[in-house]
Amino acid sequence: MVFSIFSIVGRRDCIRTAFRLALEKLHHINKRNMCGIVGYAGGREASEVILKGLQRLEYRGYDSAGMAVLNDGMNIIKVKGKVSELAKLSKKKKLNGNIGIGHTRWATHGEPNEINAHPHTGSHRNFSLVHNGIIENYDVLRRNLEEKGHLFAGESDTEVLAHLIEEIHELSDIDFFQAIQQALLQVKGTYGIAVVHKYHPDRIIVARKGSPLLIGVGEGENFVASDASPIIEYTKKVVYLEDEEMAVITRDGYEVSTLKNVPLTKEVHELAMSLEQIEKGGFPHFMLKEIFEQGDTIADCMRGRLIVHENRIQLGGLEGFVDKLAGARRVIIAACGTSWHSGLVGEYLFEYLAHMSVEVEYASEFRYREQLIDERDVMIVISQSGETADTLAALREAKRRGAMVLGICNVVGSTIARETDAGVYTHAGPEIGVASTKAFTAQVTVLTMMAMLLGRQNKVLSDAMMKELVKELNNIPKKVEEILKDTSVIEEVARLFTYAPNFLYLGRSYNFPVALEGALKLKEISYIHAEGYPAAEMKHGPIALIDEHMPVVVIAATDHTNDKIISNMEEVKARKGRLIAISSNGQSGVGRLAEFNITIPETHDSLTPLLAVIPLQLLAYFIAVNRKCHVDQPRNLAKSVTVE
Ligand code: F6R
Repeated sequence: MVFSIFSIVGRRDCIRTAFRLALEKLHHINKRNMCGIVGYAGGREASEVILKGLQRLEYRGYDSAGMAVLNDGMNIIKVKGKVSELAKLSKKKKLNGNIGIGHTRWATHGEPNEINAHPHTGSHRNFSLVHNGIIENYDVLRRNLEEKGHLFAGESDTEVLAHLIEEIHELSDIDFFQAIQQALLQVKGTYGIAVVHKYHPDRIIVARKGSPLLIGVGEGENFVASDASPIIEYTKKVVYLEDEEMAVITRDGYEVSTLKNVPLTKEVHELAMSLEQIEKGGFPHFMLKEIFEQGDTIADCMRGRLIVHENRIQLGGLEGFVDKLAGARRVIIAACGTSWHSGLVGEYLFEYLAHMSVEVEYASEFRYREQLIDERDVMIVISQSGETADTLAALREAKRRGAMVLGICNVVGSTIARETDAGVYTHAGPEIGVASTKAFTAQVTVLTMMAMLLGRQNKVLSDAMMKELVKELNNIPKKVEEILKDTSVIEEVARLFTYAPNFLYLGRSYNFPVALEGALKLKEISYIHAEGYPAAEMKHGPIALIDEHMPVVVIAATDHTNDKIISNMEEVKARKGRLIAISSNGQSGVGRLAEFNITIPETHDSLTPLLAVIPLQLLAYFIAVNRKCHVDQPRNLAKSVTVE
């Protein structure tokens, strides 16, 4: 018998309680810079702060971890594998001290092992360095250093940087800070670094280029981290470092300067996130928690922007930029992965609701194409993390060529958010699960509101149509909660197809990108091969794959393509494919054809992606759990891809 773990209905608290209770019975149920940095200077045990911080950074993806703590000298420990192993080693080695740095590494240069794990040191082990990013000219630097007698233990590019700093420091009479500066000026590539030196035991030296770093400002203690999650527990005051900036952090303060030694006064920002937001809140995985938050996150995203009683949209972040956007010669959306899928939904929305044509580009492809973009065009970049290297590069290229660039970002204060001309935050709260869920629905919500705003601006959307859309959009959070109330059919489908080797996802129109997103979710977390297609494209190739073993998920939720999608389902059925439909309540013809029919509430066609994606996220989740996969940290993946 299938036991629905979500059979108790209610808002988020009820769901959590239901979930905890259900879990006791259900013991069988068992998104790159990717690396993470934490540093601490203060009165606490540095190792404890660092280990906790590294645990909070685990979501970024990693394969080894390490830390260095200063005391009467410098203690370094490293492990291949999990932070929990590092914690055990730290206990054994009694790593006491009030200043230190830690790192989770996601291997790029050199295999994931203890030697290549950070921190790295020079030959004399006087200092320790952790690094996020890639030193692109490490090979040339390494050969030069080897000629000078440096011996390398591993293959990591970071080790080369450590030796370079040592070489410069030991061969000149400049101080250690200047030696780091000079080394960084010789480096090509990206870095966020933190360094401690045993003869300067009161400080951490940090620097950034292309790899985010922030300083957490406390009282009698200060922090450095690659994102805010490790420090939120201690302070909400942060200083964001920009590219080519350095800082010296002590327990009593911090000083920031440019790489060329110009002192800077930096603004202190107040973080909006809370500790609760980055904890699991009773759910077994962050991904599930984030799927269940979507009623709330979509509502948060619309708050103060969807003005129901005035039948209008107000996007403060775009004020002063809407005319240019509405009159753009071309609108180009650039993004990666799930954010690219939301961009594809945006294309349909802009065309239908605002009569604007849009091109959606993989950011990684855009930057290497022949660029025909100029000041007459507008680029919209979409990024949950706001740190994705390819998206950032596309943004910079478009700006360099004079285009206005708008952003849709989740992480407040992220590099992309700061570098765009204007933009809209998704306000989905921290997304910790590597597989993106609530960020996608929030991005689509923002794109929907932008399309409606532009539709009014371009006089395409009538009052009546606008009224209908405003009403329907306002009801989406309730409808999301409705889907989440009963997941029993999805669980049953997941149980039946847990070991299917392949899946096909089909959708049309607005839901073609949802098919892509459903397939991506399954691939990422359950390691099942899955492909998404526009349903009619099936006939042009993928139909050859269909037999009695092939699960085919059809998103049949839009009315205006209903007849067509029914024909596509007939085609699958005729070849004995196993049909799983996502359909709107009351949609005719689907139930008759599908082996499983997962229904979602009816809404306006253009809003169906916001609902149709929810069962697909859950399907991927349940299958991954059944296969005992690492849901929140799938293999080889990292949350934020800050390498190209
Ligand atoms: C998929 C996923 C990735 C990201 C992509 C872009 O679940 O998380 O495909 O969507 O790496 O990341 P952002 O949106 O941070 O730019």
